[in-house]
Amino acid sequence: MNSMIRREPMCQSPAFKIPTHLLIRTGTEAEVKGVNPPMLKIGDIELKNRVVLAPMAGVCNPAFRLIAKEFGTGLVCAEMVSDKAILSGNKRTHEMLFVDEREKPLSLQIFGGDRHSLVEAAKVVDQDTNADIIDINMGCPAPKINKIDAGARWLLDPNKINEMVAAVVANVSKPVTVKMRIGWDHDHIYVVDNAKAVEAAGGQAISVHGRTREQLYTGQADWSYIKQAKEAVSIPIIGNGDVVTPEDAKRMLEMTGCDGVMIGRGALGNPWMLYRTVEYLNTGTLAPDPTAEEKIRIAILHMDRLIALKGEVVAVREMRKHLSWYLKGLKGSARIKDSIMEETKRDEMVRILHQFLEDLPHQVGSDADHEAVPFVQVQCATPAQASV
Ligand SMILES: Cc1cc2nc3c(=O)[nH]c(=O)nc-3n(C[C@H](O)[C@H](O)[C@H](O)COP(=O)(O)O)c2cc1C
Repeated sequence: MNSMIRREPMCQSPAFKIPTHLLIRTGTEAEVKGVNPPMLKIGDIELKNRVVLAPMAGVCNPAFRLIAKEFGTGLVCAEMVSDKAILSGNKRTHEMLFVDEREKPLSLQIFGGDRHSLVEAAKVVDQDTNADIIDINMGCPAPKINKIDAGARWLLDPNKINEMVAAVVANVSKPVTVKMRIGWDHDHIYVVDNAKAVEAAGGQAISVHGRTREQLYTGQADWSYIKQAKEAVSIPIIGNGDVVTPEDAKRMLEMTGCDGVMIGRGALGNPWMLYRTVEYLNTGTLAPDPTAEEKIRIAILHMDRLIALKGEVVAVREMRKHLSWYLKGLKGSARIKDSIMEETKRDEMVRILHQFLEDLPHQVGSDADHEAVPFVQVQCATPAQASV
C-alpha cells in the first residue's frame, strides 16, 4: 500500500470544489412534496427516496452528480474507478475520488480482479474520501476489464464473489454494495446464487441490471430476474435497466418488488427524468417536461461546473456529448449539432445555444411555450466566475 496516497484526504482538495455560485439555488419540490414516501436504507445510510442515479463512466462526475442531487435524487453513484489507478494515486484518479459535500449520500464504485489491490483500493475509498458507500462493479462488459478478471467476469463464479466481497467488507467501515448484471450470457444466469453470495459476504445492497454481459446494451432488460434476486435475499435490491420514464420506474418497483430504482441512460441530458420520477413515485403527479430554455440553462450550468472542475479545454470537449443529449428532441437542434461538435470555447458554445433559443419561436411546433418546470432557478455564471 502506498502510504503517500493514504495521507492525502482526496475529498478536500479545494481545486475541485464546485463554486457556490454554480448551484441551483432553491430546494427541490421533490423534497417537500409527498407524504412519508418509502425510504431506502443501505447499511446505516438513509436515502430520502428510492431513486438512484446509475454509475456512468464519463458522465457521473461531480458536475452532473450535483445536478442529479439538486433534482431530488436519493442516491448518486460515481463513475467506476480502477483499483490499480486508485493505488497509483495519479491526479486524474484524485479528481475521480473527489466528492462534494453537497452530493452526499454518494456511492463510489471500484473495479478490479485482484483481491489484494481491490481491498487496498477499498480502504482508500473508506478512509480518504467523502463517499458514503463503496460499490463493487460486477457488471462492466468491456473485454479489457473482463480480461483482467474484473467487472462482469465474476458473474460466472459465486464463490469468487463471496470471497472478494467478504475481503472488502472485512477491511472497511462504510457499507459495501455490488452492482451486477443478471449473468454472463443466456446459458449462465446465476443472479440468484450471486446475490446470495453478496449477502452472505456482508454486502449491504445489490443493484441488478436486467441484462447479461453478452447482451451489452442490446435487447431488453429482463426484470423477472430482478424479482428473483429480490426474493432470494433480504438486503435491498435496486432494479436497473430500461427505466426511461417515471411510469417505467413505478412499473419496475411494482413488478419486481425491488427496493429502489436505478436510472442510467434515461437521465443523460435529462436530469428532469430523475426529478419527475421522484415526484411521480411520491405523489402520482407527472411534472411537465422542461422547456427548451430550461434545458439550455441547465446544460450551460452543467458546462460551467465541468469547467470549474476540469478547465475549459477538457470540459468543453466533454460537454459536446452532453449537449447533444440535452438537445435531443428539440426541434431544429440537428442544425447546430455540427458546430457544437467542433466548438472548443465556452463562450462560443453559449452563443450558439442562445442563438438556437432565439430562433426557436420561429419554428413550427417548438416547445418554447410549454410551462417551465418551476423549481429550477439557475444563476447563470459569467465565464470569469466559471473558472473560479
Ligand atoms: C455511458 C455509460 C457509462 C456507464 N458506466 C458504468 C460504470 O462506470 N459502472 C457501472 O456499473 N455501470 C456503468 N454503466 C451501466 C449503467 O450503470 C446501467 O447499468 C445501464 O446503463 C443500464 O441502465 P439504463 O437502462 O437505465 O441505462 C454505464 C452505462 C452507460 C450508458
